[in-house]
Amino acid sequence: MLRVIGNSSAESIRRVSRLSNGAPVLIKGDVRDTAILDQVFDDNAIDAVIHLAGVKAVGESVKNPQKYYDINVSGSVCLFGAMQRHGVSNVVFSSSATVYGVPETSPLTEEMPTKPHNPYGQTKLMVEHILRDMTAANLGWRALLLRYFNPVGAHSSGEIGEDPHGIPDNLFPFIGMVATKRKPLLDVFGADYNTPDGTCIRDYIHVVDLARGHVKALDYLLSDRATDNSAKIVNLGTDQGSSVFQVIKAWEAACGFEIPFQVTNRRAGDVPAYYADSRRAKALLGWQAEHDLAQMCVDHWRWQTKNPDGYGK
Ligand code: WQD
Repeated sequence: MLRVIGNSSAESIRRVSRLSNGAPVLIKGDVRDTAILDQVFDDNAIDAVIHLAGVKAVGESVKNPQKYYDINVSGSVCLFGAMQRHGVSNVVFSSSATVYGVPETSPLTEEMPTKPHNPYGQTKLMVEHILRDMTAANLGWRALLLRYFNPVGAHSSGEIGEDPHGIPDNLFPFIGMVATKRKPLLDVFGADYNTPDGTCIRDYIHVVDLARGHVKALDYLLSDRATDNSAKIVNLGTDQGSSVFQVIKAWEAACGFEIPFQVTNRRAGDVPAYYADSRRAKALLGWQAEHDLAQMCVDHWRWQTKNPDGYGK
């Protein structure tokens, strides 16, 4: 398993080993380092790649687009080159619903137009196009492009969860910092959107549901069901939208106290509302989300209380 350690922790791998029946192999490296990539493929019999290496904060991508094109796009090109050099042609790619940009309507199906509204979404769409070309070139490549909506929550054991380095850009980990008193209050980025309560709506999906979607995707690619060499796009969401205020309420129910917040200006790059139509995931992969918003908050809160400082520094 090759991870861009930039925003993750080797401790999480040790804990995954304790939770699962087998220790994953961890090789520390940068997805843009072709020498390490070749070494990984030389040293291991690899049938397929789940490509998760990337950076993913919408707000940061607006402020620092070069970092996002370098890691997310150049990194993917480096990885696909190594795969091609070593005859590995099955890939599950971590794409994103942000490729839809500012959608006219929701729920979003995979056929809806893509017009990313921020550099992060642009990088994900570019990699999708690369994989569509790789599979169309009759090189025997097969790809599943999984468009994540908003991954949140933590494993129910409370042992593994999201531990972003520095100040988190995303709503759930930031609320977690407020709930553990590491931040005084939450800034709600705008309450004047054209939504029922004025705050942005997102399709939050439990990270365990997301993980199960990857297992289903891998099973599909390595089975005889994957007959044609094509890049199939699949939404992974709950088909439910929740506003920022609804998330705050669900968090307060999970932790048992009020989450202090203030409404501030809108954040550049934000989109008023989007949530998934994930019927294709069910039809093609036999997958659907099983956790609701309340469970996402309960599991995230358990992770946060058991690990107030994340994995430790
Ligand atoms: C959600 C809502 C903010 C922080 C994420 C990931 C991206 C992609 C899509 C997978 C927005 C509001 C946030 C805060 C706030 N996931 N908010 N105060 O922007 O939808 O993007 O999901 O590919 O990787 O970044 O998620 O959690 O940043 O924001 O009010 O302190 O919460 O305005 O409406 P976003 P987010």
